[in-house]
Amino acid sequence: MARIAYVNGRYLNLAEAAVNIEDRGYQFGDGIYEVFFAYRGRLIDEALHFARLERSRQKIGLEAPMGEAALRVVMHELMRRNRVETGLVYLQLTRGVARRDHAFPSPPPRPALTLTVRPKPEPPEELSSWGAAAITLPDQRWGRCDIKSVNLLPNVLAREAAKQAGALEAILFDEAGVVTEGASSSVWIVGADNILRTRALDQHVLPGCTRAALLGDVAAEGMDFREEGFSLEALRGAREVFITSATSFVKPITRLDGLPVGNGAPGLLASRLYARYLARLKEG
Ligand code: PDD
Repeated sequence: MARIAYVNGRYLNLAEAAVNIEDRGYQFGDGIYEVFFAYRGRLIDEALHFARLERSRQKIGLEAPMGEAALRVVMHELMRRNRVETGLVYLQLTRGVARRDHAFPSPPPRPALTLTVRPKPEPPEELSSWGAAAITLPDQRWGRCDIKSVNLLPNVLAREAAKQAGALEAILFDEAGVVTEGASSSVWIVGADNILRTRALDQHVLPGCTRAALLGDVAAEGMDFREEGFSLEALRGAREVFITSATSFVKPITRLDGLPVGNGAPGLLASRLYARYLARLKEG
């Protein structure tokens, strides 16, 4: 079945879906995006994703192409046309088409809104098959990683380095040796002190929606938790490491820079949080 994309008000076969060569997203990476996980027809953590989209949009001064309710209709229509109930919905919004000049075009062009959908298998019932390897790398991104910008070259290079090393994710650390996040995920550890930690939000990390949702689960489980940064050494000495994102859900990191994390199997806290995550998916 042909895949269908949404391009500025039209539903088109992916092969015919195209944007103008002078689109500022293409020319400058002048745009933002969101990735939603859809589970059996429902968009997971959708309020969090829409709120982040809105914040990213305002931070780069883009006009809203349509209201949230209309956007929701488009997303569900695109899922219906692609016959995807469980999968990923990718949304991109750029400053639109204008003669190439760095500063914002005046008057502002119509922002370009494009969406695609692709199927993704349901999360596994068991965490044992879901663990992955990661490497560590210096964070070479810009100073506003809180904006979900389409400028992803450092993330792309980090993920390629991970792939070359036989790993899935690259966990990034800043110049002070403090972990920021993964190239496309939030990072959590359970330290030698048994405390669960993830970095507090600032301009150097993306406020993960899966992270935000999981904070509720952490509280409900009564886990010993601190929202604070941790060093590369703490990461290396952690009992458990896991990442979260709309695409990886809760994913244990069982090997780090070629060495096993803990006993090399998904940890207890990751397993409990994953069970909560699955329960939330199913409850709706
Ligand atoms: N990435 N940090 C970064 C840098 C990310 O790119 C992502 C998500 C996250 C986790 O955010 P969330 O839980 O809202 O998915 C954290 C998406 C999935 C991507 O770029 O494909």
